[in-house]
Amino acid sequence: MTLRDAGPVGTLRIAPSILAADFGELAQSVEAIDAQTDWLHVDVMDGHFVPNVSIGPPVVRSLRPYSTRFFDCHLMMTNPGSYLEAFKSSGADGCTVHVEVGGTASLLRDARSLGLRVGLAANPDTPFDAVAPFLGDIDLLLLMTVFPGFGGQSFMAEVMPKVKEARREVDAQHVEVDIEVDGGIDVSTVPVVVEAGANVLVAGSSIFSRPVPLDAARALREAAHLSH
Ligand code: DX5
Ligand code: ZN
Repeated sequence: MTLRDAGPVGTLRIAPSILAADFGELAQSVEAIDAQTDWLHVDVMDGHFVPNVSIGPPVVRSLRPYSTRFFDCHLMMTNPGSYLEAFKSSGADGCTVHVEVGGTASLLRDARSLGLRVGLAANPDTPFDAVAPFLGDIDLLLLMTVFPGFGGQSFMAEVMPKVKEARREVDAQHVEVDIEVDGGIDVSTVPVVVEAGANVLVAGSSIFSRPVPLDAARALREAAHLSH
C-alpha cells in the first residue's frame, strides 16, 4: 500500500478503532500499533444520532502527522453533510455516513465530490434492502455488529445473514465495495465475520484494552488469515 492508500478492494484489513484508546495519549497509542494497522478507524459521535459524544475534525487534524495510514472516519451523526468538508480538510481519507439519517444519495455525492472514499453504514436492525440501491455509488459498506454509540459491546451474530447477503450481491454485481464490520470484533468473532464475507475488521476494545495492543492486533490479523 502506498501512503494513505485504501489498498485493493476486498482484501483483509485490520482497522483499529481509536475510540477504545486513551485520548490523553492518542498519538503514542496510534504509533504503537502502526505495524498492524491497515486503516485507522475514527468514531465520530454527535450525541444525537447516538447517545454519546466522542471526537471531531480537530482530533483528526492533530493525529494526522502521527500516521500515514488511511483514516476511515465513521460518522455517527444526524447531519454528517455539514461536516464532510471539515473532515476532508483535516485529513480524513474516507467518510462513512449512516443510511438511517436519510438524504443518502446526496450525501454520497457530496463525499465523492470532495475526493473522499465513500462509505455507507447500516445499524444491526436496518435491512440490506435499505443500502442495496447504493452499492454502485459506494466504496465501503459498513454493517454494524452492535448498535452504535459505545465500545465494548457484545457482537451480534444475528447480523451475519446480512453480511452474507451483502457479500453475495457485491460479488454478483461486480462492484468494487469493501464490506466492513464494526462492534464486538475479537479473535473469537473474527472467523465468523470473515466466513460471512466481511473484509475490513474494525476492533476497539480487543486491541486497545489489551496489555500489548500491537500483539492483540497481530492476533486478530492471524485469526482473520486463518479463516480466509
Ligand atoms: C461503536 C463504534 C465502534 C466501536 C467498536 O459505536 O462504531 O467502532 O469503537 O468498539 P469495540 O471493538 O470495542 O466493540
Ligand atoms: Zn465505528
